[in-house]
Order: sequence, then structure tokens, then C-alpha cells
Amino acid sequence: MAILLNEEKNLFTLLTDHTMYQMKADEWGVLLHTYYGKRTAVCDYSYLISYENHGFSGNPYEVGDDRAYSLDTLPQEYPSYGSGDYRESALKVRFGDGTTACELRYEGYEIQKGKYGLPGLPAVYAEADTKADTLIMHLKDITGQVRVSLIYGVLENLDMITRSVKVENIGERPLTLERVLSTSVDFLQDGYDMQTFYGRHAKERIPQRMPLGHGMQVVGSTRGTSSHQFNPFFILCEERAGEEQGSCYGFSFLYSGDFYGAASVDQMDQTRVVLGIHPDNFGWLLEAGESFQAPEAAMIYSDGGFGLLSRRYHKAYRNNLCRGKFKKARRPVLLNSWEGVYFDFNGDKLVQMAKEAAELGVELFVMDDGWFGKRESDTSSLGDWTVNEEKLGCTLAELSEKIHELGMQFGIWFEPECISEESALYREHPDWALQVPGKRPGRSRYQLVLDFSRADVRDHIYAQMCEVLDYAQIEYLKWDFNRSISDIYSAVLPASRQGEVAHRYVLGLYDLLERLNSRYPDMMIEGCSGGGGRFDAGMLYYTPQIWCSDDTDAIERLTIQYGTSFGYPVSAVGSHVSKCPNEQTGRMTPLETRATVAMAGTFGYELDVNQMAPEEKEAVKGQIQEFRKYYDLIQDGDYYRLTDPMHNKGLHAWEFAAEDGSEALVCAVALQIHPNGPGFWLKLRGLDADAWYEMDGKRYLGAALMEGGIPVPGPRVEYESFRMHFIREKNA
Ligand code: DGJ
Repeated sequence: MAILLNEEKNLFTLLTDHTMYQMKADEWGVLLHTYYGKRTAVCDYSYLISYENHGFSGNPYEVGDDRAYSLDTLPQEYPSYGSGDYRESALKVRFGDGTTACELRYEGYEIQKGKYGLPGLPAVYAEADTKADTLIMHLKDITGQVRVSLIYGVLENLDMITRSVKVENIGERPLTLERVLSTSVDFLQDGYDMQTFYGRHAKERIPQRMPLGHGMQVVGSTRGTSSHQFNPFFILCEERAGEEQGSCYGFSFLYSGDFYGAASVDQMDQTRVVLGIHPDNFGWLLEAGESFQAPEAAMIYSDGGFGLLSRRYHKAYRNNLCRGKFKKARRPVLLNSWEGVYFDFNGDKLVQMAKEAAELGVELFVMDDGWFGKRESDTSSLGDWTVNEEKLGCTLAELSEKIHELGMQFGIWFEPECISEESALYREHPDWALQVPGKRPGRSRYQLVLDFSRADVRDHIYAQMCEVLDYAQIEYLKWDFNRSISDIYSAVLPASRQGEVAHRYVLGLYDLLERLNSRYPDMMIEGCSGGGGRFDAGMLYYTPQIWCSDDTDAIERLTIQYGTSFGYPVSAVGSHVSKCPNEQTGRMTPLETRATVAMAGTFGYELDVNQMAPEEKEAVKGQIQEFRKYYDLIQDGDYYRLTDPMHNKGLHAWEFAAEDGSEALVCAVALQIHPNGPGFWLKLRGLDADAWYEMDGKRYLGAALMEGGIPVPGPRVEYESFRMHFIREKNA
């Protein structure tokens, strides 16, 4: 059992293989947070808490004259607004009488075997080999109007603690939830750095590490999606932490909409971290008896730096978050039509592309945007999911058949959440687009957003999609979303419930994805939002891979994929070889380098194969064979960041190592080349120290590769790359 209980002391200790989390309900019923970090023998960590009389930090009435007891300074498990804790709160309730003071006290607990699930929301789940338990801590506000249940998932061998919160209106009057964050963790000291992942379209998840000072550092999104701008994943770490050493705490939100993540240092130099739905676009009305379920946050602690933290997330998300056939089944190498032909295609052109690609070993052909309605550019037809047979010159079933005759699978692009004003759907149902009464909705990429909080709107889109998907043999669907959401108002909800629209929208998105996944279990859905605008753990529950960025330049991708790797596994990272000069940057890079970079992901191509020179086609054949050979190692192996491309100007390298140390693939890309420049050595990781490894006919001792390293061949051209495969000798 991963949950240890000391009933006498009301002490709750959550144990994973290497980490420990503890809380204690004190004599006043306040649920204190006492410890999160490395696993130790179980003891009551509340002795660390100091009780001092601090000026202007008031005292709950029931503690009487004890001026040293203040919620304003105590480490708490779930701080609420208006309780006398003036720091960041996790919960804010507007009660029926308009007041917002809410003081929570411990009521009781429940322990359940296994990991809880959250209906309608993504959640990490236990597999047969996962040791998991659930703890639910019940709190009630002093006035008896709300019950707050803090839900903890303890996934022992994943070293993960998940959290969620359920709030019930147990009073007699309606109330509004103005803030329900999913997790809050207090640390007794300061001295931490926060590493966040910021970006923009075509430049996502750039790591930024900042020391925390007094005040607050906030990341978040109010764009309706998790966004390109900030990722709902961040790390709190001690100052000395690095890739391989030091304490780090990961905070990951399994949610694809507005989010709010903050770390603050208070007047007593204590640190508080919170993460949950962004309160700015949120207000949830709870009638008496109703309840609200917040999404899940997943936390991991590592005492072995960022590298270990990432590998723990990778494993957990690969095996205990992604679902369906393609969690394990080998995913096909694909060719996507977008950068090859954009909107400029017909059926014959596509078949010609597919034919060439099939000969090179590509297994799946994906027809991207432009096959439906009257779509010849991005100005029209979203919402009209009917096949443009005139453009294709055949039916979709016929096109798919032709592709299958080539021995390939067939995939198709959709953008189900959006609507073009220039569409039959908009002419018929203009009110289905999100728009605020009395104002024209803001456009982005000429398009509006459908009100996915409405079941009737979703049903209509679902029916249209099924018409297409049922009619032809389709093994892959790319689910795109190409704008941020604005004008949030739903025509079918009363004024008092408009604050619910943004979250209801995300629930609607999940509902549709769930329905598609269960109706088409053999079809893989790849997520996408103008590249990586919705690259989050919530989406991974429905789409095991996500197009990482619209920037396909291999050198740019080094940083994007590096940043992404902190919180997400390689198996999630949609990555393609595209043409040169690159469409986004104009940069020339060797074809082999583009392949090296795309292999640190799901691997595919996105160019017009017909335009390739014969020797390039030969190279592609080899790359595909190589990727297939390394598939398990890349997708399931342990991922090591050997360098940091933002600071290492000469060379960037990473490694995939088999968990059992039997093989490793080291990939390196030369960045700046200098004539007569210095050499490069890379220290490998994850090998068997005592074993011998073979690479290119030479033998190396595992320990030597890890302690001394391997020299990287001197690059001859800028951006040249190297892939070095090490195999442990059998008789080792
Ligand atoms: C944005 C995506 O990220 C691209 O890959 C492509 O699918 C376009 N949308 C199509 O409009």
C-alpha cells in the first residue's frame, strides 16, 4: 500500500518507489502540507514547521489567543481565498450571499485501491504492472456550504503523484466557483528556480529558467487552448540542479484549455506552487447538490536532475496516459502532403506522390488540408466536411483504394472545431460560432470557432466526420485547430453560466475525441494546433502523437524538440523531414540531418517526393529502414539530453538508450563550423559500465563511454549530423 496512515496523528504519507509526499490534519482541522521530496523512512515532518507570531498575519478564531498560529504563514495542502491566508489561493468561492470567505477544515478520508479516473477528463491510469492507490481527503468549509475533496493518485513505480479536486455545493443556495486549481504545493523555503516553456507559433516550448524572487512568476493561457505561448508544464528546481543532479519538481497539467501556473515566494521566504484552470475565463455555477470536478495535475520529483525527471514523465505518459492501439503498435512512417503541395493538388497528383513514396518505403499517405467543401485556400469551407470530388477527380473511397493498392495506408486532415464564414454550415447556423451578442466575432486565419460546449454542434460535426470516415478506408486522422479562441459566449447558456463556456468547450473537445477513438479503434489520431499550440498531456490521452511545430527546419527543431523533451516522450513528438531550402527559414540542411532530427520523433516526410533527385530517394529508403530498425529503441528507450542547443553553439546531441543497457543510439548535429576548430567528445549515458560495446567495428568499454566519452567525427559541412549505434557484446 502506497498510502500510510497514522490515524492518531492524522498524518498521511504517500510513498512512491523513490519519492514521498506528506500532509497532516492538525488539531484545528487545517490540512497542512508537511513534505514532498526524496523518499525517506516515514516520520512526521510537521516538526519542520515553525510557529511564530508574525505581525499582520492574523489568526483563525478558534485558536483563541495563540497569535503564532496563522494560515497566512503555514504550509497548506489546499489554500482557500478569504481564510486569512493572503497568499495565492487554490480555491475561491462566491457564496449565495455574495461573500467569498472560505475556511476549509478536515472532515475525513477515503482510501481506494488503484488509481481513480475522471469521467470526461484525461487522467493517468494504472496498468496491470502499475502499483497505484487513491487517497481522498474530505474538507468542509466552516459555514458548511461546500465540501472539497482533494484526490491523490499515488503511482508507486512511476514515481508520480497526481492530484485533482472535486467541489460540492452542500449548502442550500447556489454558489459560484471562481477558482478551482488542481494542485497547490507549499515549500518551507525559497531558493528555487522555475523553468517554464514559452514560445509562439512555429517556435514552441523554449526553456526559460529564472530564479524565483519575492512575488510571483506566472505562466498560463487564456486562449482556449494550452497554447504555443506557454506550456502547461513547468519545473521547480533547486539552484544547483542541472541535467543530472539536484532536486526538481515537475508540474504537468492534463488539460488542453486555459491554464494558470504560478510559483510565488511569500513574506516569510516560503515558496508556493499552484496549477489549474485559469481563473480569468472561469466561473462555475453550482446549484445546491451539484459538484464540479477539476482536471488532473501530475507531479514528479527527481533528485537526479532534469534528465531523470523527464525520463519519469516519458515513461508514465507513454504507458499510463496514451491509450489505444497505437500506444504499443508500431506507427507507420508517413508522408504528409502539406508542405509538398499545400492546397494545390488533385487526386492524380496525390496518387503520384504516394506512388513514389511507397517505393521508398513510406507506409502511410496523409492528405492534409484542402480536400473538402470548396477549400482552395484557408479562406473557406471549414464546417463543410464533404469531399470535393470535383477537385480529387474521384470519390474519397476511390482515392483511398488507389493509395491502398500501393501497399500504403491512408490518412486525412480535419479541423473540426472551426467554421469559415464562407461555408454552407455558417450560412445555415451562424449562431453555432462562438460570438458575443452585439459584436462581430474576431477572426483569425479568416475563421471562427464552433461552440463545442454545445452537444448539438458537436453531434453535427461528428455525424459529418463519420460520413467521411465510414465511407473510405482511413487509418489516420490529423486533428488540427488553427486559432486561439475569443468571443466566448454560448447562445444556449444563461448569463449566470457564461463563465463555464471555456471549460465546457474543452470537455466538448474531449467528448468528440473520445467518441471518435471508440468508434474507430484502429485509426490513429494525431493532434495538431497550428503545429504545437495544443501540445499537452491532456491531448495525449486522446492522441498519442501531436504535430510538434509548424517550423520544420531541422536546426530550429533542435531547440523546439529539446524543450518539448522535458515534459513529453519522443513517441508524442510529430516530426517530419521537409524540403530545402526550408519553407519557414530558407535554410539549407543536409537531408541526413533532417532525418536525424525527425527520428527524434514519430518520423515522417512532408515534401513532394516527385521533386527529389534519385540519390536523395535512395537516401530516404535507407533512412526509413534505419528508423524501422531503431524504432523500439527510439520510441521506448530512455532519452538523454547530452547537450543544450541553446547554450552549446558547436554541437547538439541526444541519446536513446535501451532500458536494459543493451544498445544505444547517439545522435549529434554540428551547429557552427569553424575551420581548424576544436574536437567534440560526448559522454554517453544509460550503459552497462562493465560491458563492452561495439560501434562501427570498434570496441568500447561501457564505463569508458560514460566517463571518458566518444569523440564525434569532425564535421565537414555546417549542420552535418551523426548517428552512432552502440551494441552491447553478447558475452558481456
Ligand atoms: C496547420 C498545421 O500545423 C499544418 O501542418 C497544416 O496541417 C495546416 N494547418 C493546414 O491548414
